[in-house]
Amino acid sequence: MSTSTPPSAWNALSRPLRLGVIGGGPGSFIGPIHMSAAVLDRRFVIVAGVLSSDAGRALTYGATVGLPASRAYASVDLMLAGEAARPLEDRIEAVAVMTPNDRHYQDCLSALQAGLHVICDKPMVNSVSQARHLVEVVERTQLAFCLTHNYSGYPMVRQARAMVESGLLGDIRIVQAEYFQGGMALPVESGELTAKLRWKLDPERSGASLVMGDIGTHAHHLASYVTGSRVARVSADVGAVVPGRIFDDYAGILWRFENGARGSCVVTQAAAGAENNIRVRVHGAKGMLEWQHRDPNYLHYAPLGESVQTLGRGDARLHPAAQRASRIARGHPEGFRESFANLYADFAEAIAARITGVAAEPLSSGSPGVRDGLWGLEFVEAVLASSRAGGAWTDCHTPA
Ligand SMILES: NC(=O)c1ccc[n+]([C@@H]2O[C@H](COP(=O)([O-])OP(=O)(O)OC[C@H]3O[C@@H](n4cnc5c(N)ncnc54)[C@H](O)[C@@H]3O)[C@@H](O)[C@H]2O)c1
Repeated sequence: MSTSTPPSAWNALSRPLRLGVIGGGPGSFIGPIHMSAAVLDRRFVIVAGVLSSDAGRALTYGATVGLPASRAYASVDLMLAGEAARPLEDRIEAVAVMTPNDRHYQDCLSALQAGLHVICDKPMVNSVSQARHLVEVVERTQLAFCLTHNYSGYPMVRQARAMVESGLLGDIRIVQAEYFQGGMALPVESGELTAKLRWKLDPERSGASLVMGDIGTHAHHLASYVTGSRVARVSADVGAVVPGRIFDDYAGILWRFENGARGSCVVTQAAAGAENNIRVRVHGAKGMLEWQHRDPNYLHYAPLGESVQTLGRGDARLHPAAQRASRIARGHPEGFRESFANLYADFAEAIAARITGVAAEPLSSGSPGVRDGLWGLEFVEAVLASSRAGGAWTDCHTPA
């Protein structure tokens, strides 16, 4: 986070916030990213945690992330009770949830009910009804809630959003998104990968559709974030491209946005040769923007009838929303970890505003929140319903 434009509420607070982590033990995929991102800008200090579903390992693992034995807990309930018994100025103020998908709902709910701010990984929960409940609790308690759709933390994605919002592209007409991974191109249902993937291969734990929960929600959020418009309707084809597979590894989606834009979205975890590339392309009446994760420090801008431009992270002429999300000069790559750190910084700003009464810096307010989580789940359920109905156009947002 740029030091030249410090967030105002966090500046007024002028101390790191105390964070408890749930999940993220040794060997977990996203845990180390969360924990290093949380402390990158000294907005948080990790003081407590539950690092495994296994009580014994949870206690042992605490030491590996520097927790004192007294604050490595064997369960979420024990952490919430133990922390509540500590002096106010010492106990955790927020929790970070980085557990398997089926744990998110209960972990978030327990923390919110204990009066704690929450940052949670995606998908927020595993059903629309759970998501609606979390929306109700967050909006009633007014606690801060951040959902780590981390691609919205990239400076050049924030630049794209600001350019669309400014009207530079004119009316948005076509939105293309894709998220291609290759990790499941080979059978993973048996063999050495099975143990590593464990909960992901169990629909009771990963959700109704692995590919949609894992990466479909990311593509959906990225497209909505950049365009500032929600997906209204979908026509989808969801299934498996690997023969014999019984879980979804592919979704092809036609979508219509609330602003009238059309387009499509393809997500798959079984594209042989693909790494981890999420891409968004937006065509308006006056030009085109394109960003992809393979080249995340750059944004391609093609104004209608003019030369194509490549905007780089660190350029002096970027929108302040992009500048404040960058730490080092152009030519020194920033990436995945920093994108999470930008969401943690915005989360800290939201908490600091609540503690100090100082208004949050306006540019910090665009990070994904609990309603984005609900819309993501509504999107997943609409896509699956459409696919079951042979691709029938299906509304994403139905009244509660
Ligand atoms: N934003 C992203 O780009 C991104 C990337 C990968 C994963 N994720 C999400 O992060 C979450 C975790 O995914 P992962 O790939 O790191 O999983 P993982 O299986 O690698 O790690 C999960 C961790 O949670 C711990 N855990 C499980 N149950 C627990 C419990 N009851 N209490 C405490 N700890 C518990 C496990 O011991 C492990 O350390 C998922 O929701 C996933 O969708 C997000």
